[in-house]
Amino acid sequence: MSPMPPVRLRSVRDVNPRGKRVLLRADLNVPLKDGEVADDGRIRAVLPTLRLLGERGAKVAVLSHLGRPEGRVVEELRMGPVARRLGELVGARVNALRDSIGEEVHRAVDSLSPGEVLVLENVRFHPGEEENDPGLARELAAPFDLFVNDAFATAHRAHASTVGVTKLLPAYAGLLMEREVEVLSGVRDAPRRPYYLLVGGKKAKDKLGVLTDLLPQVDGFLVGGGVAFTFLAAQGLAVGRSVVDRDLVPVLGELLQRARALGKEILLPEDVVVAREPAGGEVRVVPAGEIPEGWMGLDIGPRTRERFAQALRGAGTVVWAGPMGAFEHAPFAAGTEAVARALVASKAFSVVGGGETGEAVERLGLAARFGYVSTGGGATLDFLRGKPMPALEALRA
Ligand code: 3PG
Repeated sequence: MSPMPPVRLRSVRDVNPRGKRVLLRADLNVPLKDGEVADDGRIRAVLPTLRLLGERGAKVAVLSHLGRPEGRVVEELRMGPVARRLGELVGARVNALRDSIGEEVHRAVDSLSPGEVLVLENVRFHPGEEENDPGLARELAAPFDLFVNDAFATAHRAHASTVGVTKLLPAYAGLLMEREVEVLSGVRDAPRRPYYLLVGGKKAKDKLGVLTDLLPQVDGFLVGGGVAFTFLAAQGLAVGRSVVDRDLVPVLGELLQRARALGKEILLPEDVVVAREPAGGEVRVVPAGEIPEGWMGLDIGPRTRERFAQALRGAGTVVWAGPMGAFEHAPFAAGTEAVARALVASKAFSVVGGGETGEAVERLGLAARFGYVSTGGGATLDFLRGKPMPALEALRA
C-alpha cells in the first residue's frame, strides 16, 4: 500500500472558547444494563476535552448517538443514564434534554454558565442524522458558536452531526480525536515488526474487509472467536453447530491461499472448547477438526492458547479486534484471558479495538497495561485499513 498522507487536524487546543456556546460531538454509544451504563470507558475518554473546554470558560452541550434507533424515538435509548454517569464523573449535575434540536435546546444552551455542561438527546432519533441531511445539520448547529468533534468511534460515518455541522460552524478536533489519530497513524504507517492482527468476535462477515485489506500490511493473522469456524470450514474441517458464514467459506478459502502465497503466518485454532449451548451444560475440549455433530465451538482450547501466546510474545505490534470466545460465559472466557495476559506480558505494542474487546480487557482489569485501548471498533479498523474517514476529512487543518 502506498503511504497514507499524515492526518493533521484543526485542534481544540488552538481556540479560545471563552463564553462561546460549544457543540461537542462525542461517541457515548455505551452498553447499558438495566437502564444504567455498563461500561463508562467512552464517557471517561471524553473528559480531557470537557475539562479543557470547562477551564477555558465554554458553555458545552454534548451530543451523541446511542445504539441504532433508526430515526425514531426509542425510550430505552435516551441519553438520561449517560448524562447521570457523566455527572458522577465530573462531580456536578448534568442535565439531559429531551431533544437534540429546537427551542428547548436554544434556551438551555443560552442559560448555561461558562464551564457548565448539558447532554442533548440521542441524535439518531432523527432520520436526517444518518442521511447527513443538511436541514438537520442546520438545526443542530443553530444554537452554537463552535463545533468540537471528539467522536473518533463514529469518524467513519458521514452523518449530520459529524460532517454536516462542520459546513456551518468553525470545527475542531477534540483531544481524544487527536490522540486516536496520532496513535493509530503510528501503527498504520510504521508498525514495529512482526505485525499481527489478532482477530475474533462472533461473525466472519464483520471481519472479512479488515482481513482482506490488512493482508498486505501485516506479517500474520491469529484467528479465534466465531470468525475461526468459517476459516476451519473453509479448510474442510468438521465444525458441528458452530457459527459459520456459509457464503464466506469460498472467499475465506481464497484468502487463506493468498496469505500463504504471500508468506504470511496464519494461526488458526488447533483445539477448541465446545458445548451444546453457550449457557450451561457439559463442556469439552476437542481437536479443531473434530467438533461432534450437535456441538458448537465457543472458545479456543489450551493448545491454541499456548501457541497464540508464543506468537504474541515475539510480536512487535499487535492489533486485537474481537474476543477469542464467548467470554461473557465463564466456561468460555479462558481464551480471551490468555491472549490478553500474553499481550500485556509481551514487548509488543498492542492496540485493542473498542467494543467487546475493550469491554473484555476492562473486565479483566488489564486495560491500563495495553499499549493503547482505542474507543473505536469499526472506526479503528477502517482507519488502519486506510478507508476514508469522512469526519476526519472535515477537520483537516
Ligand atoms: C461504535 O460503537 O462502533 C460506534 O458508536 C458507531 O456505531 P454504529 O456502528 O452504530 O455507527
